[in-house]
Amino acid sequence: VQDEGSVQQLIEQCIQDEDKLYLCVSSPTIKDKPVQIRPWKLSDADFVLDASLPLDPRKTVFVGGVPRPLKAVELAMIMDRLYGGVCYAGIDTDPELKYPKGAGRVAFSNQQSYIAAISARFVQLQHGEIDKRVEVKPYVLDDQLCDECQGARCGGKFAPFFCANVTCLQYYCEQCWASIHSRPGREFHKPLVKEGADRPRAVPFRWC
Ligand SMILES: *[C@@H]1O[C@H](CO)[C@@H](O)[C@H](O)[C@H]1NC(C)=O
Repeated sequence: VQDEGSVQQLIEQCIQDEDKLYLCVSSPTIKDKPVQIRPWKLSDADFVLDASLPLDPRKTVFVGGVPRPLKAVELAMIMDRLYGGVCYAGIDTDPELKYPKGAGRVAFSNQQSYIAAISARFVQLQHGEIDKRVEVKPYVLDDQLCDECQGARCGGKFAPFFCANVTCLQYYCEQCWASIHSRPGREFHKPLVKEGADRPRAVPFRWC
């Protein structure tokens, strides 16, 4: 939606039931089906808990499967209660629609909280009606040099792999990944790669 006025108009056409909004839409198979409308304010997508701290992408986690009504402030509070040291939370939004995509990022101020979060691997998000177990992973960047060779062994290319095992927690080029992980005990580490490209959006309804 281009302007806020049309969102207001849409909301005015909705039927209110307690704190929820519904609108009647028709699909090719069902006529006048009430669907819930959840307005999303752009400011709900980011929350800074501590602005004095620089955001360190290497102390940032990716949270997958975030329920759509969850706001950044709520994600920040939940993660801070569990692991402490949260300085920022963001809800990933579609660049075009600016609507939540169902994933988020949380940045911590310290390594211990970051490691506690990624070691847990899953987190129970509880807030109001929301109660969902979601996955937590290190936030992987696609523009980092290999931490072992700083690009010397791979022609300065950005590192394709990140090792999330707490004994590593580093970016690696292919060569360095292979040599470091041929050491005993490390052969079981699995590389993390940057989150995949956006999936195409489905358009299930036609407005009536
Ligand atoms: C991390 O690596 C160490 C040493 O290679 C290994 O003993 C440990 O099991 C690994 N941890 C996980 C969670 O895989």
